[in-house]
Amino acid sequence: MPFPPAFLDELTARNPIEDVVGQYVSLKRSGSNLFGLCPFHGEKTASFSVAPDKGIYYCFGCHKGGSVINFQMEIEGLSYPDAVRALAKRAGMEVPEDEQYQSRYRQQERLWALHKEAARYFHSQLYAPVGASALQYALGRGMSKSTLTKFGIGYAPDSWSGLADALRKKGYTDQELRDSGLVTVSKKNGNLFDRFRDRLMFPIIDVRGNVIGFGGRIMSDKDKSAAKYLNSPETLIFNKRKNLFALNFAKKSKLGYFILVEGYMDAIALHQYGFDCAVASLGTALTEDGAALLSRYTDQVVLIYDGDAAGQNATQRAIPILERAGLQVKVLRMRDAKDPDEFLKKFGADRFKLLLEESSNRVEYQLAAILKKYDLRDDDQKVKYLQESAELISSLSSSVQREVYAGRVAEAAKISMDAMKLEVNRAFKRRLAREKKKQEKIDLAPARALQPKSRSIRYDNIKSAMAEEMLLALVLQEPALLDRTEGLTPEMFSSQLLGRVFSQLSQRHKEGLEVALSGLTDFTSEEISHIAGLLQRQQGPVSEQALLDCVRTIQREYQSGRVETEDDLLALRNRMKERKGIKA
Ligand code: CTP
Ligand code: MN
Repeated sequence: MPFPPAFLDELTARNPIEDVVGQYVSLKRSGSNLFGLCPFHGEKTASFSVAPDKGIYYCFGCHKGGSVINFQMEIEGLSYPDAVRALAKRAGMEVPEDEQYQSRYRQQERLWALHKEAARYFHSQLYAPVGASALQYALGRGMSKSTLTKFGIGYAPDSWSGLADALRKKGYTDQELRDSGLVTVSKKNGNLFDRFRDRLMFPIIDVRGNVIGFGGRIMSDKDKSAAKYLNSPETLIFNKRKNLFALNFAKKSKLGYFILVEGYMDAIALHQYGFDCAVASLGTALTEDGAALLSRYTDQVVLIYDGDAAGQNATQRAIPILERAGLQVKVLRMRDAKDPDEFLKKFGADRFKLLLEESSNRVEYQLAAILKKYDLRDDDQKVKYLQESAELISSLSSSVQREVYAGRVAEAAKISMDAMKLEVNRAFKRRLAREKKKQEKIDLAPARALQPKSRSIRYDNIKSAMAEEMLLALVLQEPALLDRTEGLTPEMFSSQLLGRVFSQLSQRHKEGLEVALSGLTDFTSEEISHIAGLLQRQQGPVSEQALLDCVRTIQREYQSGRVETEDDLLALRNRMKERKGIKA
């Protein structure tokens, strides 16, 4: 059972979208819209829009959009019911609670509490007699007592049910233990046993301070069969792609940049040595989600991955992911130690600071990586080095940057600056030709250009879909127009998604409810974003004539697509051939 529609209408009315968004984004009015910097992806020019009259937000850059409720979900990482609760609280409204939602929310709260309990248990075991060697290991690796406390480091004893028993004593059910991922079920006899045994435990804490999972490290590197690190599985509260280790601390850093490292131990060591802006990804490579999360707190990231080949490959992969999230990237190449943890212990914070200061921007780093591939004494290889470097330099948008780096490469290869410039120009032209070809392909296939940005939504009949989009935009701006859509049914819509929207809006109109995006139910956030996007794109004047034109187009396309007679079939085949002709 969802929240009552009338309640949701009042909720949206009492939480004007420009006010709610305004708490997070500074907005400037431009016509009937407000614009600001998108909070969901890093950007320098404002492509994030809010339309108070339509009650929606939409980013023309990252294509996220929706109602005030969707915004609340997205910005705070909340589920739908939690976002509704938050908005209700904001407006001082009572929430008509629903069984199912309540139980899911309660389940989450129980899991958070369970994890906190587990963290307490592990931490206490570290100081118990069974934890003596673990404590020694932790101290031996240079973690100070206050670091152990700050990060809540713990020890999972070498027992089958130490944690399970402790949690049961606190009143957690076996079902809850299983849901937490901290215990597993024996395939043999169905018994529950602790997932983490004889490991040093690192609690993973989200930005709101909830313990959501653990990483556990074995303490002897002798046993090669055991994984060095074991992490919590995905659960109701833990998604490793969407969280970063130590972000709960780093988000408060005053340093103005973030350091991204590979390992838990690296992040912890950096914090201990005063670099309180360090975070690590959670046993996976950096993801788009991780980068987006970072971009909420900073616009500059220093990447410090391990000095080995794996670390350097991971660096090359992380650079574009971070840049796409709008982050400025610098790269620090580890030297004289395999990772930051080891470096700090060997050389201390001051030497590390020097390293940080000379950390290069990503172009320098990538040029160095190219240089390493070739032997410049060999003429063939030298040419390849020049070409590859020129390719990279030609992709830079600033002419000053191009000049500077071309100069460095010329010097390294001992060729004249003029020759290098020629090479860069050639690369630039090749790039241009490639881009042009790409653009031509798009121009040649107008249908493809009009396709929704999200891959899971497809328009089969572009002509009809354009009319359907326009019609929805019109009735959302002027709900009374729904009275003029008699004879139009959801089945006639060529896009199932748009038909569903039409169906729900008509229904609401009939029932005297608000006709607005916020009233839609059972749509994914991707679908809602798509609908918000089409609303923001349609800016034409609202008129009955425009609406009737849309209705007629949809009906006509629907009729012509129906196959009832042999002639229909022939006509359909011909049209398909024509369409294919355009694409080729
Ligand atoms: N990792 C993992 N599972 C493994 C090995 C590594 O999830 N079997 C992840 C962990 O998040 C770890 C990171 O990869 O922190 C880096 O691994 P590695 O470089 O091997 O560990 P270090 O940080 O060097 O750890 P330590 O210093 O404790 O050896
Ligand atoms: Mn290490």
